[in-house]
Amino acid sequence: MTWEEIGGLETIKQTLQESVEGALLYPELYQQTGAKAPRGILLWGPPGTGKTLLAKAVASQARANFIAVNGPELMSRWVGAAEQAVRELFTKARQAAPCVVFIDEIDTLAPARGSAQGDSGVSDRVVGQLLTELDGLQGCTNVLLVGATNRPNALDPALLRAGRLDLQLKVDLPDVNSRLSILQVHNQGRPIAQVNLAEWAEQTEGWNGADLALLSNQAALESIRRYRAQEQTDPKLIQITGNDFEMAFQLLSEQKTKQ
Ligand SMILES: Nc1ncnc2c1ncn2[C@@H]1O[C@H](COP(=O)(O)OP(=O)(O)O)[C@@H](O)[C@H]1O
Ligand SMILES: [Mg+2]
Repeated sequence: MTWEEIGGLETIKQTLQESVEGALLYPELYQQTGAKAPRGILLWGPPGTGKTLLAKAVASQARANFIAVNGPELMSRWVGAAEQAVRELFTKARQAAPCVVFIDEIDTLAPARGSAQGDSGVSDRVVGQLLTELDGLQGCTNVLLVGATNRPNALDPALLRAGRLDLQLKVDLPDVNSRLSILQVHNQGRPIAQVNLAEWAEQTEGWNGADLALLSNQAALESIRRYRAQEQTDPKLIQITGNDFEMAFQLLSEQKTKQ
């Protein structure tokens, strides 16, 4: 996973490169100089915009291990197990250092305390455990927590204090230029013929990165269908055309309006 595989999000990529990679790659320089790197990062914004990709890119570019968990999955365990899972997660991360711990939908794991009803304080204790673990990482610059959420307001504010998830980055829906970059990423190396990706970037206002990946893939599938119907035998001749994109676009637009 490289930064080039992520379309758009230039400022965020740069911030992550400057402020995070260094601390994972050269912890001794941070220790010697007393420079502080963010302990944790919160990526927030609508789904499908590349938050998971960003966390993976940080890890792989810093040659760090990557451990990913999902908030709702952790919480669905029996009482007491979620707390224990959080503890084990960080133990594992310290052993695997340098390591990036990614918690998707972190708001379900760390909702504002007192807000969850009818769970007999389970989530309050899980938040508490998470804070304890994060605070325990002081002086351990080669473990980084990255949390992702599309409901930042639902998060326990204690998690956002200095020394915890102290770098907060908004990951927005892509604008037209970013949509073009994302389409280019996903069609890199594919046999597209006379497809005006810039035009498709214009046509896809409001679409997220995941939608654009689907569009590109659906167009490739359309080209396979066409190729097979023509009973061609040389795969080198297969081409993804503007018409394939048109078909894919119609299919996905229909699906999107149904949602
Ligand atoms: N900025 C982007 N550049 C390239 N592909 C993207 C981008 N954003 C999303 N995608 C595509 O959508 C998929 C889901 O993205 P993901 O990072 O899981 O989104 P999020 O975590 O924000 O919900 C990715 O695997 C990728 O194929
Ligand atoms: Mg994701």
